[in-house]
Amino acid sequence: MYTPYPEYMMESVRKVEATREKRMSEEPRRLTADEKDALLKEFHPDYREEAFEEIKIGPNKGQKANRELVHLLHSNSRLLQDKVDLSKVDYDVDVLVIGGGGAGSSCAIEAHNAGADVMIVTKLRIGDANTMMAEGGIQAADKENDSPVQHYLDAFGGGHFAAKPELVKRLVMEAPDAIKWLNELGVEFDKEEDGRMITTHGGGTSRKRMHAAKDYSGAEIMRTLRDEVLNLGIPVVEFTAAVELIKDEKGQAAGAVLLNMETGDYSVARAKTVVIATGGAGRMHYQGFPTSNHYGATADGLILGYRAGAPLLYQDSIQYHPTGAVYPSQILGALVTEKVRSVGAQLVNAEGEAYIHPLETRDVNASGVIRECQEGRGVEVPGGQKGVWLDTPMIEILGGEGTIEKRIPAMFRMYMKYGIDMRKVPILIYPTLHYQNGGLDIEGNGFTKAIPNLLVAGEAVGGIHGRNRLMGNSLLDIIVFGRNAGKAAAAKAKDVELGSLNVDHVEKYAKELEAAGVATGEVSPLLLPKYARHER
Ligand code: FUM
Repeated sequence: MYTPYPEYMMESVRKVEATREKRMSEEPRRLTADEKDALLKEFHPDYREEAFEEIKIGPNKGQKANRELVHLLHSNSRLLQDKVDLSKVDYDVDVLVIGGGGAGSSCAIEAHNAGADVMIVTKLRIGDANTMMAEGGIQAADKENDSPVQHYLDAFGGGHFAAKPELVKRLVMEAPDAIKWLNELGVEFDKEEDGRMITTHGGGTSRKRMHAAKDYSGAEIMRTLRDEVLNLGIPVVEFTAAVELIKDEKGQAAGAVLLNMETGDYSVARAKTVVIATGGAGRMHYQGFPTSNHYGATADGLILGYRAGAPLLYQDSIQYHPTGAVYPSQILGALVTEKVRSVGAQLVNAEGEAYIHPLETRDVNASGVIRECQEGRGVEVPGGQKGVWLDTPMIEILGGEGTIEKRIPAMFRMYMKYGIDMRKVPILIYPTLHYQNGGLDIEGNGFTKAIPNLLVAGEAVGGIHGRNRLMGNSLLDIIVFGRNAGKAAAAKAKDVELGSLNVDHVEKYAKELEAAGVATGEVSPLLLPKYARHER
């Protein structure tokens, strides 16, 4: 009989099969708060002290971050070597949105609707963003048995009570309207025959409030937002990266220096308000982790904001999604959506034991997988990585034949490409770098406190989710905080008078780096991963 796995893996698969019936009748118990804390401290990568370094200059001086991020923070601007004439303005707008993902697009749509002259600049193409890669869904408390208060408690507790209360409040209170907005724009949410939205649980949710478009929810949302941006005629400058913020003599944000990724030419965008919506950092591969993130996720916005003087919040807190693919190697690190567990799959070790509840919060489940692998209860794959099983055949047994193809068709296709039929055999997973919990510190209205007229939205923000984000609250935050940033930036732009432009902060930062003796000799923001081909 054909099997997709080598015989030594099949030995473990048989153990998983042997315990399945019993496991299905006894759901694994939830961990106590103390048990969770102990598991996190021992196994979560955020607690590996040797992976962190101290930031030596700037607003977060003395705090720590993953080495790779500190390296970028200790690097200099391209503009130290490449001088750009700021008196020659190429684009002059009310609102400049840096980033063409879900947050940037929502922001631009609302700024346009509020009457502002808005432009998106993005280093790849509009939609090349983590939004596109999001799978499982978007949370909102819009059913009769739920409320934003319940959502708040789940999100705040799941983030270890570290989130900024005014940000979580906005997130949950504006969630139902975010779903309505997306639905009206044309997102094809999963619905019952009577038109009600189908909702499921995610890790750490006390109610079923995950709204989805199968298991490609982010792609469906991004498709809709991109259509709307293009239909509204909002200018989008693609393959063009922001490499430095520009200020005026009053210290207000006043635009950005742009780099054409194809020609290497610089240009200048002047703007009355600037929104950083540059997304995440998975392609930094912190601590050597593979990632579920898109190619451009290189923490650019954090560098732009920090060098100009905006503080970071929780820059040392990263989300490792518990279920990244670990076999076959062609899909190493690819996201295996949490929805696979929402619809019934259990996490099972090499011995066939369901060692943890499958819908603990992500940091807890990721730590559990790492523990099983480190303590010898994982399955080794060619290449030396280890993983544990996600017992996917349970989904068909619990939900009936056809559930996998109906509810998680993208997962089904991803594995079938390699001959692995997840309806019949379990799949192997290990944590993958998925999300930066930290980012630039903002007020409830989306503005940074440190730099007037600078706003931040989406994954580049720190503090919305505390030190751990729940599934589906990122697709939500890009819409809620993207839309708010667009409205706020457009309103503010009406009162702004700009003075002459400068990038004086670049020289100042370089001097601080030199005085601290930590300049790396490299430039940041990174823009593309270290392994990108540079043909120029
Ligand atoms: O597992 C997932 O589908 C991921 C969702 C999220 O990060 O919110």
